[in-house]
This record gives sequence, C-alpha cells and structure tokens, in this order.
Amino acid sequence: MTGFDSYFLMSTEDVRRYAVEVLHRFAPEEPTECTEIGDGNINYVFRVRSLRDGHSVIVKQADRLLRSSGRPLDMYRNKIEAAILKLEGELAPGLVPEVWHYDETMSATSMEDISDYKNLRKELSENRVYPHLAESISTFLANTLLPTTDLVLDAEEKKRRVKFFTNPELCRITEDLVLTEPYCDYKGRNILFAGNEDFVREHLYEDPALHAEVASLRLHFMNNAQALLHGDLHAGSIFINEKGLKVLDPEFAFYGPMGYDIGNVIGNLFFAWANKAFTAPDAEEVMSAIETCIADTWDLTREKLEAKYDACVTLPLYRVPAFKNAYLDSILADSAGYAGTEIIRRTVGDSKVMEVTSVSDPKQRIPMERALVKLGIALIKNRRSYRVGHELTEAFRLILA
Ligand SMILES: Nc1ncnc2c1ncn2[C@@H]1O[C@H](COP(=O)(O)OP(=O)(O)OP(=O)(O)O)[C@@H](O)[C@H]1O
Ligand SMILES: [Mg+2]
Repeated sequence: MTGFDSYFLMSTEDVRRYAVEVLHRFAPEEPTECTEIGDGNINYVFRVRSLRDGHSVIVKQADRLLRSSGRPLDMYRNKIEAAILKLEGELAPGLVPEVWHYDETMSATSMEDISDYKNLRKELSENRVYPHLAESISTFLANTLLPTTDLVLDAEEKKRRVKFFTNPELCRITEDLVLTEPYCDYKGRNILFAGNEDFVREHLYEDPALHAEVASLRLHFMNNAQALLHGDLHAGSIFINEKGLKVLDPEFAFYGPMGYDIGNVIGNLFFAWANKAFTAPDAEEVMSAIETCIADTWDLTREKLEAKYDACVTLPLYRVPAFKNAYLDSILADSAGYAGTEIIRRTVGDSKVMEVTSVSDPKQRIPMERALVKLGIALIKNRRSYRVGHELTEAFRLILA
C-alpha cells in the first residue's frame, strides 16, 4: 500500500486512510466515509466522517495543477494557508477553522469541519442577512489586520513574515485579473454581456482618469507591505450561521494594503443588493438589511481598527493623533478603492459572481451591470472622500435612482 512519505494527489480512499494513519483522527477499525466536497477551482477538499459517532475532519490538498484548468500553480500556497489560518485563529479566536495538521510532503492542511456554517453568498441570495454579520466580519478584519503591521509587530519579526508570506504566483493572478484586465483586456479574457460592449469600452477601457487611479491602486497593492492579508476575502470565503462566522481559504495571503481585504468584503456585499434591486425590486426589507450591513461593516471596521490602534500601538511617534487619523483615513480610502476594483472585475472580468451570472434576462442584466460598473468607478475615483459607511450606500442609491 502507498505510504504518505512522498507527494501524490490523493483519492477519497487515500484520504480515508490518511485520516487514520497520519492524522490519527479515527481508530483503524472505525467505519468512516470520505467525500470530496470541494466546489472551488483550485484545490481538492475532502471530508472524512465517522459512521459511528459522526466526528469529522476536513483535508484540503493542493496539487501542482489547478483543479479546474490544469494550469500549474505554486504549491507553496498550501503552506501559506495553513500558517495564516493558525495566526488568524490566535488573533481572531473562533473566526477561522482550527488547523489540526499541516503536511508539507503531501501539501495537505487538515482542519476542523465547519459544515454547520453556510456560504455567505448563498445565504444572502436566499435573503438571510444575519444581524451579527457586520459585527463579526469587522472584528475579523480589525483583529487580523492591524496586529500584523509594523505599528504593532517587532520590525524584524515583521520582515521575516513578509518573506515567509511572499506569494508571487497568487498575487500575480490578482494583479492581472483584478487590477489590469478589466481596464485593458490584453489577454482577451474579459467576458462582456451582449449589449454592454460599448458601455464597457467607453467607461472602463477608454477613461485615462480612471486608469490613473487604478494604476495607483495596482502599485499600492504590489508595494505596500502593510499587513498580512487574507487576499481573497469574497463572500464565498465567508461562512455564517446564527451563532457566528468562519473565514476560509486564505491561500492568496501576502503582505499588502489592508484596504484590499476590507474592500473585498464591502464590494461583495454590494452584489447581493444589486441582484435584488434588479431582479426583486419589491424585496425592500432585505435590501435595506444589506444596505445597513454595508454601512455598519465600514463604520465598525474603522471603529475597531481605532480601538485596536489605541490598545496595541505603543511608539509615541505613531500615537500622535494627526498620524493615527491620517493612517486610518488612508486605510478606508484604500478600502473604497479596492471595493470598486472588486465590483468591476466580478462584473466584466473572467471570474464573475453568481449574483451577476444568474441574471439571464438582458432587461435586468444590462442595467444591473451598468449600475455596478458605475458604482465601482465612483468608489475608485472618490475613494478619499467617504467618511462614514452611509456615504458609500448613498452613492449606490443615487446610481439606482
Ligand atoms: N473547514 C471546512 N469545513 C467545511 N467545509 C469546508 C471547509 N473548508 C472548505 N470547505 C468547503 O469546500 C469548499 C472549497 O473550499 P476552498 O474554498 O477552501 O477551496 P479552493 O479550492 O481553494 O476554492 P477556490 O477555487 O474558491 O479558491 C468551500 O466552499 C466549502 O464548501
Ligand atoms: Mg482557494
């Protein structure tokens, strides 16, 4: 029988055995079942469950080739994912799955099964806007981001982490798909909805003022090693139920500007609202709940970052109020900008969201996409002007009016 002392891509039967022989989560004679539950494009995710008492483990294995396209991708991403999940578990207890084992040879991370939590994107689409969402996700953001910066960490430890979390191939995906191609389709990968080609050309491909702002956000993403980011914090990486929330899948983690994570959360919440506005305009209650959630997420994140700052930053130079306020303002400005780039890339780019693709009627889809693109542009261009969350939601209201 094959051992687990050199890498191979595991089958469900291999993972079942792995959970006994390597993880020791099950007794050798215990009846278990193993299912591949991954629905993503990149890795293989398995659940092994005891048929005796139901206890379970998740094994996420990376392969050299992408699960969907077969393109090669650096397997170091799995090491980064296991390491950041452990760090986030210390900084934001209970808000990520607990990592039980990391296996460098097999490129496999084994962790707590969080199947009682549901994909936030799907929950929002089914009108479940959990009242604790803004509170929980803002805690995750403030607790995981600020303490990983130079304001809090020892400078040498921070540089060691920057080195460890350098993630060039996955950053390259973001630099291309999020921060280049929606404005300059040089790889021909954008997917435009029929009827919106001229709109996209005029508003995204041929606006030098927008290009100047996106160029600045792009370089900032690449050069501002401010905080350890999740790097892919879209609504499908957030799992939720009445009790709480868990953030998954941080394989795009790297040291970058924290507004990128905050902006991804905010940007993704707008998709839920946009979808309802064009497909279920009478669903006023749920739209209003999403709107409140967006504004609260923004305001609570700023509030909690400030509280963290006051509690954890000790160097007197950094404690000067004028510096602190400018620092927090710049994070929020970045957040609005990256919310804008996320909204635009998920609308016209190669990797869309279900809230957009599920709308097949051109009478709804065309104006919905235009509203989203306009919102994205406004958030990018006006990113330094938003003081409170309500101003972002007002910007979308004006576009919808
Ligand atoms: N700890 C866990 N507990 C329960 N389910 C999980 C867990 N981790 C992952 N899953 C399930 O597997 C799916 C895929 O996981 P994940 O997003 O981590 O994989 P991926 O291959 O990196 O995906 P992507 O293509 O989005 O990057 C999740 O959407 C979720 O349904
Ligand atoms: Mg992933």
